[in-house]
Amino acid sequence: MFRLLLLYGFTLLSFIGLSLAQLEPSWGYKCEHNNCKKVELTADNKKTAVSLSVCRLYCNLDAIGTLWPKPTGIVQIGNDVVKISPNEITFKTESFKREPAYWSMATERFIAMQKKKLPFKYSIRSGGKSLIIEVTVESDDMVFTLDTYEGYKLKISENNDGVHAVITAKNFYGARNALESLSQLIVYDNIRNEILAVAAVEIEDEPKFKYRGILLDTSRNYFSIDSIKRTIEGMAMVKLNTFHWHITDSHSFPLVVKSQPELSKLGAYSPEKMYTPEDVEEVVRFAKARGIRVLPEFDAPAHVGEGWQHKDLTTCFNAQPWKDYCVEAPCGQLDPSKDEVYNVLEDIYREMIEHFQYPDIFHMGGDEVSVSCWNSSSSLQNWMIAKGWNLNESDFMKLWGYFQNNALERLDKANFKKVPIILWTSRLTEEPFLSQYLNNQRYIIQIWTKGDDPQVQTILEKGFKMIVSNYDALYLDCGFGAWVTEGNNWCSPYIGWQKIYDNRMETIAGSYVNQVYGAEAALWTEQVDEWTLDARLWPRVSAMAERLWSNPEDGWRAAESRMLVNRKRLVDIGGLSAERLQPEWCLQNEGDCPI
Ligand SMILES: *[C@@H]1O[C@H](CO)[C@@H](O)[C@H](O)[C@H]1NC(C)=O
Ligand SMILES: *[C@@H]1O[C@H](CO)[C@@H](O)[C@H](O)[C@H]1NC(C)=O
Repeated sequence: MFRLLLLYGFTLLSFIGLSLAQLEPSWGYKCEHNNCKKVELTADNKKTAVSLSVCRLYCNLDAIGTLWPKPTGIVQIGNDVVKISPNEITFKTESFKREPAYWSMATERFIAMQKKKLPFKYSIRSGGKSLIIEVTVESDDMVFTLDTYEGYKLKISENNDGVHAVITAKNFYGARNALESLSQLIVYDNIRNEILAVAAVEIEDEPKFKYRGILLDTSRNYFSIDSIKRTIEGMAMVKLNTFHWHITDSHSFPLVVKSQPELSKLGAYSPEKMYTPEDVEEVVRFAKARGIRVLPEFDAPAHVGEGWQHKDLTTCFNAQPWKDYCVEAPCGQLDPSKDEVYNVLEDIYREMIEHFQYPDIFHMGGDEVSVSCWNSSSSLQNWMIAKGWNLNESDFMKLWGYFQNNALERLDKANFKKVPIILWTSRLTEEPFLSQYLNNQRYIIQIWTKGDDPQVQTILEKGFKMIVSNYDALYLDCGFGAWVTEGNNWCSPYIGWQKIYDNRMETIAGSYVNQVYGAEAALWTEQVDEWTLDARLWPRVSAMAERLWSNPEDGWRAAESRMLVNRKRLVDIGGLSAERLQPEWCLQNEGDCPI
């Protein structure tokens, strides 16, 4: 026993000894011709060499240091850094009286982010200046809409009592964005074991596009609330502003609707795989504190199935062979001829609107309706014939128009205001049906076809506002093995971040680009769950974040070295299991990898 203890003590000591020796870095960096160059640390150069993270802060100012997305207005970043103490961060503001809890969440998050910059086994060397953050906003209104201004001004300067960050913005959302930029200007230096901030900064910044989203499908597979929050955390770090929750589909119905309890009781994969009203409210609150709206989607009349078993309100539910009735198993569509459908929809809408905290936009889905599914129901056929309709395609389009109008009426009844409605592109958004059944003052069209699909131009010519999710650049589920057959999945190949970065709204919308609210990356989850979520989204989706916030003239090459810093930050601070884009060597040898 004694020997064993001794041995244990010895091993422990040698372990500590070894790791202490390894903590001394061998390499530092020097800024040379706008690039951070690796230099071997010697007794002589140790005072002047800095760590990679610090060098990147000020070395290539044309590339805006380490900021992602890059600011769109005036940027001045000085090349002095100052040591700050992460235990002495204070906020001075009198501005957030209406809902002070959100500002508290934003400031606590900011402080926690600075502490995460320390490698976990280190304790920071004492000393350093305090960081005083002064915030002024014009309004403490917390409402977030497509008209909300998200820009900000940030000024950092240094004097004897500390480092001062002065933030001015119109509202909470701009101020929050300023904190995000400020955080990116504060880094850990592993040579000095200090937290350093840029000493003199002036930034004016505002986004080019108003809608910058990610869609997550939580029906094909379930995602825990923790994994959803992790996604929202990453979104906040790159200033995305819309989490589009495709919460139900034909595969499962995880949303608890109290007035229609059977939907989740029968439709969830299991009792643990449900979203209660409290869960939804928690996600909405968490997102709002990060400047993000949670957009609810209830997809109908297609993409329903599980959960509706006892209601006798669907057609072709789980019909086989499914290929004859829908695009993927299990099939299912609401039967527009049944009046009860609209009562159930109204219940769902009412509860969604309440628990999603009165969203400023609502997504009604509306994709991939199958005529053969509806036409497989003789009772629906009889109802149409009784109305004096035929059974041609145009009659089924009339049926779809009828459904959409009735459903919208119930949504408006369940809400206290009329909000803009988003619909996916479909046969209904093609002419002549687009003009016949949809109003361009009410509907925003989300395109998911290829960017060069002629339908896109028609929708824009007809005056509709648009959100872009062209699958050839923004479907992040593409490029894996097939799941209904062999080979690769339908929209292969895998889309690299470079293609996402270069997916320009001007190319898609041409002279109608002012009708584009923005874009959204979609993660359909037939082949993803919470265990592989991070790597599907990150860091790729931050390429879209910069395209929409900054819309730089340059393509991805100019952003490459900054993207690697961004990826590291998403891992270190965001806790995301982001995909590796390159060997770490490329991060350490700036500019030496791309050709
Ligand atoms: C629709 O179908 C009916 C018979 O099923 C046919 O007589 C009619 O011409 C068709 N209408 C159109 C507009 O194609
Ligand atoms: C619907 O089914 C009927 C037969 O039941 C057929 O005559 C008709 O052409 C079908 N309509 C469409 C649009 O396929």
